[in-house]
Amino acid sequence: MAAEAGTTASVRAAGVETGGILVLDFGSQFAQLITRRVREMNVYAALVPFDLPVSEILARKPAGIILSGSPFSVYDDAGPKPDAALWSAGVPILGVCYGVQLMAQQLGGRVGPSDRREYGPADISISGATSPLFDGLGASGAERVWMSHGDSIIDAPPGFTALATTDSTPFAALADTTRNLWGIQFHPEVVHTPSGKRLLQNFVLGIAKAKATWTPGRLADDAVAAIQAQVGPTDRVLCALSGGVDSAVAAALVHKAIGDRLTCVYVDHGLMRKRESEILREVFAEQLGMKIIMVEAQERFQHALEGVVDPEAKRKIIGREFIRVFEEESARAGDFKFLAQGTLYPDVIESTSKETKSAQKIKTHHNVGGLPDDLKFELVEPLRALFKDEVRAVGLQLGLPESVILRQPFPGPGLAIRILGEVTRERLDTLREADWIVIDEIKAAGLYRSIWQSFAVLTPLHSVGVMGDGRTYGNVLAIRAVTSEDGMTADWARLPYDLMAKISSRIVNEVPNVTRVVYDITSKPPATIEWE
Ligand code: XMP
Repeated sequence: MAAEAGTTASVRAAGVETGGILVLDFGSQFAQLITRRVREMNVYAALVPFDLPVSEILARKPAGIILSGSPFSVYDDAGPKPDAALWSAGVPILGVCYGVQLMAQQLGGRVGPSDRREYGPADISISGATSPLFDGLGASGAERVWMSHGDSIIDAPPGFTALATTDSTPFAALADTTRNLWGIQFHPEVVHTPSGKRLLQNFVLGIAKAKATWTPGRLADDAVAAIQAQVGPTDRVLCALSGGVDSAVAAALVHKAIGDRLTCVYVDHGLMRKRESEILREVFAEQLGMKIIMVEAQERFQHALEGVVDPEAKRKIIGREFIRVFEEESARAGDFKFLAQGTLYPDVIESTSKETKSAQKIKTHHNVGGLPDDLKFELVEPLRALFKDEVRAVGLQLGLPESVILRQPFPGPGLAIRILGEVTRERLDTLREADWIVIDEIKAAGLYRSIWQSFAVLTPLHSVGVMGDGRTYGNVLAIRAVTSEDGMTADWARLPYDLMAKISSRIVNEVPNVTRVVYDITSKPPATIEWE
């Protein structure tokens, strides 16, 4: 099994793990979400492989363990099984879905296929209302939960009693309080279980008594200390700023740790949104006093993209040029031993838990800021243990402005993948102006933060219009606005009609050569968020 996900030097050094929660990853798509939910309680949680030996689990002194769900059935030979010593490890355990079925099966209970698959919302009747797991829940004796399972526990193992039932499951929740083993058939981590957060809290803080010490201030201090421990007193660090949140926070942490020995490089490929480069200079160079090299490479990218229409070809060219420019500029800037990168915990998890995730491959993206492995630097990755929302909290803690930290995601290849067809200077100008209006109006309507991404797409279509007394013939521009938790799935945003009307009217009036504005009403899947 690959090295365990996400233990950074910082986490280990500070001993934050002690008293945290380990989530054993049996391959469910929700395993990461459980980890995030625990972190939202300011409790350290790590997602670790399902078969982590109990000796290693105990060495990390967790307050509790949560077993995730799985795409497998407990009867599958290939189904993931934990170290058999887990159940007697003496650490409180909460099994979720497959996790509780494993617990039941391995401790002498009986699990079998349900009469009917339970998928979606279900109402549980709580029989163990006085149980600490249901503290504050089920005032009426019932709770709405979200189920997704084909097998059910038919007989509980010796020592266990039912805490909740549904029409089709006699053991929707059960526990052996003597051994501190708990299980639930439903998913508390998803938003469709309204009291799921409270139930998780009951386990994490109430039953396992985990320590709530994982705060943004603490994270920032730990990261700074770890950078200082890794980077020698005269070593210099290079960082590629992309304009995005991750590289911004990574750079700010490194700057706090080593000051002027950090140099940032920002490559302006000319595919950025309006005023992007100016804002970046204002914030990083002027407000934060960082050393930043602004590379004007618009011409070079423009030239390389001439005549290119294929989306993947565009991405490749932009990625390749980015690396070349970055290498040239960094060589010019002197000697650097380290490169700072904004790698996040989900990337770490994804690259270290391939085996359990083999059932459901998650789509990955190649960021143009993603530099190749053979660059001759050692990596400084201060965000390796953090989820995106934690990165934002650390950024705000460090005093980065909200305009940088709370911004919507923007793809590395920039506007190039929002111009269908060839990327010309003129088309870039058209899209940039339209994009500015979309963002401006979404912000004015107070929706910028609740919407995952909102932007304009320049289609290759032309359409007839009428302006004054004359006939016009110009571009068809699409507006895309989506809501999402993490970009993996998304729904089109139900923007108010008046807002759509305002955006459309401003665009056709203020942006030359646009005659028609359409709104994209496709969710992801089956579409993607970007058009290319
Ligand atoms: P899709 O279009 O695949 O996008 O639904 C999901 C999220 O990823 C962003 N995206 C990219 N980010 N390089 C990036 O850095 C890329 O090549 C890229 N393509 C898509 C997209 O904006 C959305 O947030």
